Amino acid sequence: MRRNLVVGNWKMKINQQSAQKLVDGLIDGLPSEDADIAVCPPYLYIPEVSQRLANTTIGLGAQNVATHVEGAYTGEIAAVMLKDFNCKYAIVGHSERRANYADTSQTVAQRFQQAIDADIIPVLAIGELLEEREDGTTFDVVEKQLNAVIDFSGIENFKKAVIAYEPVWAIGTGLTASAEQAQEVHLFIRQLLAEKNQQIAENIQILYGGSVKPQNAVALFAMPDIDGALVGGDSLSADSFLKIYSSFQK
Ligand code: 13P
Repeated sequence: MRRNLVVGNWKMKINQQSAQKLVDGLIDGLPSEDADIAVCPPYLYIPEVSQRLANTTIGLGAQNVATHVEGAYTGEIAAVMLKDFNCKYAIVGHSERRANYADTSQTVAQRFQQAIDADIIPVLAIGELLEEREDGTTFDVVEKQLNAVIDFSGIENFKKAVIAYEPVWAIGTGLTASAEQAQEVHLFIRQLLAEKNQQIAENIQILYGGSVKPQNAVALFAMPDIDGALVGGDSLSADSFLKIYSSFQK
């Protein structure tokens, strides 16, 4: 049985004070659910959030990770540094990094591998643009993004990975993929993995991301291949994020 998981991606939408308040709200309000939960603060706040989350069941993640293990890479943060602060997860290949920071299939695959090598679970984000959905190439795009990482890192490493399907047109727009639209792509991703390794396909957590809110989480989570969510905007309120976390059917 796959465990469910919700991950909050705080992006660059928080400051030190609001991060402290948010973490306290999450710790105080955390219901006892049989599912996993994690937050991804900006790098700078990771040490403090890590301290606050010690001895809680809330996991910690980073929003990105460097392509190399160490060296002359000004401004980058290596996977081993994240490990020093107990990061369990690192998002790799977020569409905002692909679009604005020149992340390519190659660099995303390198980041994925760096996380794996440091014993951090990569949360591999993939998803199509609006024009790609309209052109009917969603499956091609998702397959290409996924295969780039499988080819580089090998299917076996997906034993310790999470996939987040985030249609770019649904991110921060209030437009959510319908539960059926998301399920269709999640099933496609699982089938692609099953062609390489049946067991990995069955066990991997595939999260949906893109305007997930308490109002749509129940329907999304009811889908057989949706194992949770990567949440942006609504992870910035403890109340909304915990409501999403409580939206799995018992
Ligand atoms: P929103 O939930 O704000 O649409 O963001 C989704 C996202 O990009 C999570 O990584």
